[in-house]
Amino acid sequence: MAKKRILLLSYSYSHQTRNLLKELVKGLEEEHIDLTWERLFPVRELRFPIGTIPSTVLMMFQTFFRKRYPIKPLPEICFQQWDMIILAGPTWSYNPAGPVLSLLDRDGKQLFAGQTILPFISCRGYWRVHFWGLRSLLKKCGAACVVDPIVFSHPTPEPWRTVGVFLKLAGKMPERGSGWFRRFYPKYGHSRQQIATARKLGKNLGRDILSDKELAQLHFETPIPTETV
Ligand SMILES: Cc1cc2nc3c(=O)[nH]c(=O)nc-3n(C[C@H](O)[C@H](O)[C@H](O)COP(=O)(O)O)c2cc1C
Repeated sequence: MAKKRILLLSYSYSHQTRNLLKELVKGLEEEHIDLTWERLFPVRELRFPIGTIPSTVLMMFQTFFRKRYPIKPLPEICFQQWDMIILAGPTWSYNPAGPVLSLLDRDGKQLFAGQTILPFISCRGYWRVHFWGLRSLLKKCGAACVVDPIVFSHPTPEPWRTVGVFLKLAGKMPERGSGWFRRFYPKYGHSRQQIATARKLGKNLGRDILSDKELAQLHFETPIPTETV
């Protein structure tokens, strides 16, 4: 049987998408999927954390209006026909992250026309608008099929995770120190349990692809704690 080939394109700013993907990839490779993983690198490196409250507010404002962050060229190998392309990255102000938007602008038609795309989203908790926007951009690029996304939200309850993400981006390390906030916000990002789930999903996805399951029918049951928008 011919090996199934997946291209994984990803961007990760604060390592949350990356940590999940490392496990997803292990799961896929356990099922002997032939995987090519290419990361998006902004031309101007983005430092994490942003570092100050005013610059964090500015980045949130700019990304709300879909600011692009130009990326370095992708290797030629990406521009082939694949059994599936996984397009992974975080939510930024209800949108796909700026480097992913730049990828869609520059290479979208060449990369995605006629392909099956599985979006993979890491977010604080508000991913739907991101997904709708991404799906519409992929369709404009001529994608043959955009599968239901794999979504991982930060497990900490609101309002702590919103405040915690903001403080973390602003360089305040809310999960450290001895302050009362730490009781409600022990960790930035995804839990170990979610990272383990990513591996299981990788295995399940690998099996589904190998068994030629109708990809449009794939649904991923990632636990999503609270989700409103
Ligand atoms: C500028 C910016 C805006 C963000 N806006 C949102 C948002 O609208 N909704 C959300 O759920 N998370 C939002 N987040 C949080 C990230 O999506 C979340 O921390 C994600 O896990 C980061 O993944 P990464 O480390 O791979 O970049 C935002 C993060 C940044 C940096």
